[in-house]
Parts: sequence; structure tokens; C-alpha cells
Amino acid sequence: MNNTDDQKKIIVAIDGYSSSGKSTMARELAARVGYVYVDSGAMYRAVTLYAIRNGMVTPDKKIRTALLTAALPDIHISFRPAGDDGVQHTMLNGEDVEKLIRDMEVSNLVSPVAVIPDVRERLTALQQEFGINKGIVMDGRDIGTTVFPDAELKVFVCASPEERARRRLKEMTEKGDDVTFEEVFANVVERDRIDTTREVSPLRKADDAIELDNGAMSPSEQMEWLLQRFKERSGL
Ligand code: DC
Repeated sequence: MNNTDDQKKIIVAIDGYSSSGKSTMARELAARVGYVYVDSGAMYRAVTLYAIRNGMVTPDKKIRTALLTAALPDIHISFRPAGDDGVQHTMLNGEDVEKLIRDMEVSNLVSPVAVIPDVRERLTALQQEFGINKGIVMDGRDIGTTVFPDAELKVFVCASPEERARRRLKEMTEKGDDVTFEEVFANVVERDRIDTTREVSPLRKADDAIELDNGAMSPSEQMEWLLQRFKERSGL
């Protein structure tokens, strides 16, 4: 299915809990329908990596908010289109940081970075710029509520914390990371807590989002479901 100019381009917002599989779904949908894919979580992760590298994290793992806020104009995030590996790469000030931003150190610090209002404001503006011409699939936590409240298709993905930790552990182990289920599970639960209780743009289902509990669905079943919703909304 390829998009042509006379077809109505829409914005697809896919929100949900960490490791719910939303990035995989979003990336595949974009590839199938010829849309741009943006992983908004990768942008928060890139800012977190910048903070770690530039002494903006205290020894007791608190973010030096004032320093990070002041440095925001120096943080430039972009994406390099997927190459042979089929993976889009996140660029931080011109450096490919795709692998580094998936590390446990970044994962443990990204939620406290994502509560900082100035960080959210800057990344939200950048995300809205990416969507200016529509034809975009973006996944995250606040895409359907804050970034694109008028998105034509909004999906809210959920699955139990145990299921999500199992998926994340598999992903990390396959990459060669040495982590335990307990560590990954604790990280998933803690991120859920921070993401849903923060003051600015907390993770919540938009009133007009369609909920998808994918705990018992195979990747191909999920894609089938999503393509169907996409066709309904885009008129393809
Ligand atoms: O999707 P992810 O796990 O890579 O996201 C990393 C973190 O970024 C997550 O803990 C919450 C934050 N985030 C956010 O606050 N808003 C978004 N739109 C996307 C991610």
C-alpha cells in the first residue's frame, strides 16, 4: 500500500506504556503506508544522554534542571532514515546515538528528564514541526493528548507490566545486555509511575483514542488491526 498525493494524508498518534510494543507497530505501519515515522521517546532519551555526558546528573541521580534547561538550545536532535538494518537512527548533535540511548543508564534517568517542563516544551514544538505536512506516525506518551490533539487516528496501547518487562528483557538480552528480569521489571513499573503522575502532559488515554490491549496478540494480528483502523480513518 503506497501513499499518493491524491490520498488524504493523516496523522497517526500511538501512545502507551513503556515497552508496550507501540514503537514496533508505529514503525511498521509507517513503512507499510509510506509515512514518516517518529519515535518521540528517542528524543527524550537523547536529551537524557546529553545530560549524563555533560555533568547534569548528580551522584545521587538527580537531574540538574537549571543547567539542562539552559543547554536546550545546544541540543539538536534529528533522525537518519532507516538503512540496511531497517532501523531509523537517532542523531544527537550530528552523532548517531541510537544504541547508546537504549542503555539501562539512560532508561533509568529518562523519566525524570521527561518531567521537566522546558524539555517537554522544546521537544513538543519539534515534534509538531515534524508533523506539519501530515503523513506521519508518531509514538510516545502524549502524542494524542498534547502534541497532536487533532490527530485523525489515535491509538492507546497497553499490556500488563509483567508482559512488557518480558518483552523488554528479550530485546535487551538479544542485544547482548546483561540485565535481569527483576531490574527490567522495576524499571518498567517505576517509569509507569513517573509517566502517569507527572504534572505536565502525563501519560493518559486521549478521550477519542482507541484502546488496544495487545497482551495476547501476535505482531501480525496487531498490524492487521492497526492497518484496518488506518484504512477507516484515511479513506485508503
Ligand atoms: O518510549 P520510550 O520508553 O523510549 O520513552 C522513554 C521515556 O520518555 C519514557 O519513560 C517517557 C518519556 N516520553 C515522554 O514523556 N513523552 C513522550 N512523548 C515519549 C516519551
